[in-house]
Amino acid sequence: MLFAIRCQQAQTQGITPLIEAKMDSTNTWVFKFAARGYDCMTAQKLWRRQISRLLEHVPTMPETILDLGCGPGVSSFELAERSGAQVLGLDFSERMIERAQASHRREFSHLRRLSFTHGDAAALQLPDHSVDLVTGHSFLYLVHDRRAVLREVRRVLRPGGSLVLMEPHAAGTLFSAAWHARGQLAQIWQNPWDTARFCTSMALWRLFGSANGMLSDSSVVQLFGQAGFAQVHTQPTLYGLGLHCVGRA
Ligand SMILES: C[S@@+](CC[C@H](N)C(=O)[O-])C[C@H]1O[C@@H](n2cnc3c(N)ncnc32)[C@H](O)[C@@H]1O
Repeated sequence: MLFAIRCQQAQTQGITPLIEAKMDSTNTWVFKFAARGYDCMTAQKLWRRQISRLLEHVPTMPETILDLGCGPGVSSFELAERSGAQVLGLDFSERMIERAQASHRREFSHLRRLSFTHGDAAALQLPDHSVDLVTGHSFLYLVHDRRAVLREVRRVLRPGGSLVLMEPHAAGTLFSAAWHARGQLAQIWQNPWDTARFCTSMALWRLFGSANGMLSDSSVVQLFGQAGFAQVHTQPTLYGLGLHCVGRA
């Protein structure tokens, strides 16, 4: 209920900043000015298919979802469409939130249980135990203080609720991913523009991942465990380039 009220506030307040988000300055700069380019790269079927796979890790369809680092909204649109849940997309970049809200009005206005807010995942303006599922698609690796974010997520999740992330996987390589994806050539020729965008976003993602620190099985088990998550497990995805990271509150 309190989560619903917060979503309502996000809808009526627009992008009024709820808090002053303190971020790593390089990432802040990049996501401020690259919102349009990022949107162009990721607003496509292949990326959306990856996002919907986050829901494979929840035991039952959630009623409420908090999508951290929602960027221009692609992840939140996909999650809202697939789950029918009340979804709140949160990002520290105002530019990203503006784009998400514009796309929501323009293309996704049928998603009436979705709203966006500007904020810092390390200081969530949400009550304790108010969310069923917290997601982050390509998010935690960019965060400066990962422990603080995980503690906040643990606080807002209801008992039994899930945290599901998809992050760049330290063990993956572009070469081995390309080798494993060779069977998908037919699909590549069907959608050359989508494929080109997807491949470019993967290359940039790896570059960013290397600069910020990718996640490994052991770092996820350690970080999630320290934040008090149970049943922590990981699963490689995206031909080994990505890692699904799952924990229960
Ligand atoms: C790579 S984008 C991912 C966007 C979207 N989830 C997707 O999969 O397309 C990561 C986003 O996380 C946001 N971000 C990074 N640290 C954050 C924090 N501490 N709190 C909120 N958002 C954050 C950035 O602004 C950026 O828009």
